[in-house]
Amino acid sequence: MTCYPALTSEKNLKKLSLTALHMPLAVCLPLAAALAACVPAPKRAYSAEETSKLDDITEVMRVNAATMDPLFSYEEPTKFDDKSFATLPAAAAQMKATGTALQDARIAHGFAKGFVDHAKDLAAGGDKLRVAAEKKDRAAASAAIREIHQTCRDCHSEFR
Ligand code: HEC
Repeated sequence: MTCYPALTSEKNLKKLSLTALHMPLAVCLPLAAALAACVPAPKRAYSAEETSKLDDITEVMRVNAATMDPLFSYEEPTKFDDKSFATLPAAAAQMKATGTALQDARIAHGFAKGFVDHAKDLAAGGDKLRVAAEKKDRAAASAAIREIHQTCRDCHSEFR
């Protein structure tokens, strides 16, 4: 899902609805459906410290998606460009923070124990990504991104 933040900014939404007015229904309807399938952006930008204290699981997941979706195309190390590589420390800090928030009883209380294990994996993936970024190790960064992605899938298949 790659549709934000570009499509969720107010300016772009306005642009989009203006465009929609001039579009035949056959084009407009699928576009609207595609938009509805998008994950909404988080309510605002959070520091990692703020993210780690969130108490709303949906909001935590929106941080997960906003942070990682743009990076999932870098699961192959050869594809890394410098601009994306520069975003890794911030992304790593956010994954550590979402993993931390999800482990906390305020979110985890309703779930079976396995949930916290996945949350710990997510935080550990954040640590691996941070180390890889510090070392400028593209292969290790890609491996960490793959691992994080697998953790998203594993937890979703069990608990979502
Ligand atoms: C510890 C378990 C767990 C992990 C790890 C996890 N998720 Fe989730 N995810 C869930 C659950 C449970 C829901 C349903 C939450 C709800 O009720 O809104 C969810 C929902 C979502 C949603 C839907 C949010 C919305 O707007 O409704 C997105 C997007 C998402 N996750 C992305 C991710 C991404 C990306 C990752 C990995 C970086 C990830 N998740 C890791 C458990 C997890």
